[in-house]
Amino acid sequence: MKTYKKVLALLLVVVMSIALFGCASNGNEGPASQSQSNGSSVQSGETEQDETPGGNEAADNGQESEMSESMAKIKESGKIIWGTNAAFPPFEIRRGDDVIGVDAEIAAKIAEKLGVELEVVDMDFEGLINALTSKQIDFIGAGFTIKPDREEQVLFTDTYFKAVQTIIIQEGNTEITKAADLEGKTIGVQSGTTGDFTAKEYTDNIVRFDNALEAAIDLKNGRLDAVIVDDLPAQMIVQENEGLVLLDEKAADDEEYALAVRKGATDLQAVINEVLAELKAGGKIEEWVEEYSFLN
Ligand code: ARG
Repeated sequence: MKTYKKVLALLLVVVMSIALFGCASNGNEGPASQSQSNGSSVQSGETEQDETPGGNEAADNGQESEMSESMAKIKESGKIIWGTNAAFPPFEIRRGDDVIGVDAEIAAKIAEKLGVELEVVDMDFEGLINALTSKQIDFIGAGFTIKPDREEQVLFTDTYFKAVQTIIIQEGNTEITKAADLEGKTIGVQSGTTGDFTAKEYTDNIVRFDNALEAAIDLKNGRLDAVIVDDLPAQMIVQENEGLVLLDEKAADDEEYALAVRKGATDLQAVINEVLAELKAGGKIEEWVEEYSFLN
């Protein structure tokens, strides 16, 4: 019986090393040595990662104020998990197995600062907050706008980019020449975004899509009167879709992007703020915005 157990244990070790080895080589392929998992492979069940991983007592033993559970998990696993929705150029763009863009560059710098691997989970935008609070991801980086109701659920970092909700229409549309003309019109948005909330101020006829690029296709095909989305993705959409143009007047006031961590993870927030401060001081964010706005 005992030898049987030993054999089993040995087998387990072998299997685990194979799994580990597989992971490591996978993680080295991306430009920012990302490893990938898609949203679908993330357990949608809740409790899987709710417990502090075993061996974490040091973090819980009266040192809570020194290291958050988030930070302990990152250090212990040797990786940090970035959650995003990679259909939002130039901030996140899916390229084969990788996610590239401004947020991907920032995420890579955060992993580098912490000395851990970066793993990315590409998922529905609307699922991001829940994925964070249920510990499936360690931070959100998604051109994510600071909003009071989101602030109740997550801890935002410092801001790194100013954006504004922008209106896309079909070229030659004489009915919509200013924001107020959106009243009662059929507007396409990415579900759960600030574009979605802005559209509600103009109309009840909102068509919600998984991403703004899909909304743009319906606009092109004449099924929508307008699309409301953040300015940089809007610019890239009209750049790549003949027959679509931007209105000069914006749909709402300026907003600001930040990353977000779990409430209580003030140490991780501080590290990210440090990274952001360095990047902003070095002019890196603008550099990346340029770089990823002229893809193709
Ligand atoms: N800034 C908007 C918001 O926070 C849209 C963000 C969409 N981001 C994305 N990766 N799809 O609601």
